[in-house]
Amino acid sequence: MTERNLTVRVARIARQTPEILSFELVHPAGRALPGYQAGAHIDVHMPGGFSRQYSLASDAGAEGVDASRYLIGVKREAASRGGSASMHGRVLVGDLLPISAPRNSFPIRSEARRHLLLAGGVGMTPLLAMAQALARAGADFTLCVFVRSAEHLAFAEALREPLLAPHVRLHFDAGGAAQKIDLRDLLAVRAAGTQLYVCGPGGFMQAVRSAAAHWPEDAIHTEYFAAPADAAGAPGKPFVLRLAQRGIRVPVAADQSAVDALHAVGIDIPVSCEQGLCGTCVVGGEGEGAEHRDFCLTGSERVRKVALCCSRARGEELVIDL
Ligand code: FES
Repeated sequence: MTERNLTVRVARIARQTPEILSFELVHPAGRALPGYQAGAHIDVHMPGGFSRQYSLASDAGAEGVDASRYLIGVKREAASRGGSASMHGRVLVGDLLPISAPRNSFPIRSEARRHLLLAGGVGMTPLLAMAQALARAGADFTLCVFVRSAEHLAFAEALREPLLAPHVRLHFDAGGAAQKIDLRDLLAVRAAGTQLYVCGPGGFMQAVRSAAAHWPEDAIHTEYFAAPADAAGAPGKPFVLRLAQRGIRVPVAADQSAVDALHAVGIDIPVSCEQGLCGTCVVGGEGEGAEHRDFCLTGSERVRKVALCCSRARGEELVIDL
């Protein structure tokens, strides 16, 4: 069951780069939209029956405050399966689009003393919102944006705003050596209390992961566009889900996900990406008994949570809080 519970009107479409358009989405009757915290994303259901997730690219303001608009950035992928092509080619100003309410599986960590935000290309969308929220809060942070050239820098105006500009470092692949950021140098030493947030294409994520291999797992927070190509994992084995609150057991076949097995017995678990990226299907449970296959939970979250769209039992049984 995917969530589809708001309709918004496209108020503005702006070209950010040769490949990226931004879309400003508002309530059709001019009312406020549900508030969100920086790092959140929405599902957008677009013409052609496609559904994709997009991070919200601007800070909504203080927690609990409604939002006047949602801003997203959509890159037209050369190998688009239809989603980005639909947004670029078929959506016009004034169109109505069904979307989900914002959800956040990539929040700012309140325990951090310092925040390091690394953005690759259009991966800057959630990190821009987070940087704006951190600037508003007077936090200690740096936002590093890695793009091909100045022409490929989206939301350049927002990055130049006086509150944000002193915290921004830009790396252009095509630029001079002096402005380039060496990931290994940048991540060689972790200042105490620093939390690292990363969003970008697969190769960029891998490069950051490798340069930060010595950082504690719980200090690294990632938002993937898609599951890494090598993430398929071993074929699944059958297991049993034990639902602690209901006191029932639900068998999961080798070729079935836990979510599908629950749906088959009439228990609806909301899902969105179905790739372990978004956190929509995460429930509490005895995570130590799980073979985690998600990309959204940290090491310590995995002790007590499980993403049911992809993860399986390590052994014969997995206990969850349902
Ligand atoms: S549906 Fe997105 S993580 Fe499971």
